[in-house]
Amino acid sequence: MSVRPIVLLGDPRLRLKGQPVDGFGKSLHELLDDLTESMRDAPGVGLAAPQIGEALQACVVEVGGQLHELVNPRITRSSGDDRDLEGCLSIPGYVAYVNRHERVWVVAQNRFGRNIKVAGEGLLARAMQHELDHLDGKLYIDYLGSLDDLIPVGSGEDEEESAEIAAAALA
Ligand code: NI
Repeated sequence: MSVRPIVLLGDPRLRLKGQPVDGFGKSLHELLDDLTESMRDAPGVGLAAPQIGEALQACVVEVGGQLHELVNPRITRSSGDDRDLEGCLSIPGYVAYVNRHERVWVVAQNRFGRNIKVAGEGLLARAMQHELDHLDGKLYIDYLGSLDDLIPVGSGEDEEESAEIAAAALA
């Protein structure tokens, strides 16, 4: 396991679509372990393979102490709307308000190729939507009307708002 450098905005590798994973052996296990270690080191609540330069359909999400390894994931159902602050480990120093589904149901494979289902709401749902976008070469800034909607970390009208900005989940 090792902490890998995170690819930053402007690097074309962030825009590549992840290829489906068809091998569930040692190299996938090492990739997933590196994703988890790099996510925890950052720290963040999720990390996708394209963010460490691997154009593969694999990501990790960790919310509330529960780690999810998602290989070839897709959203099968979603409901509700939720608007909240969100940031990306590939776009350091900024966050923004992004609209997401309140709940999502994801089907994926685990590291052994077994089919799994993960249902999430709130932060877990947001993190899964953010990571699945990465697997499609998509970033949260694509949803913003303008880059002026980006909020610099460290700004805020008052102490409460500054604390919320600083505490925004990164993935
Ligand atoms: Ni991200």
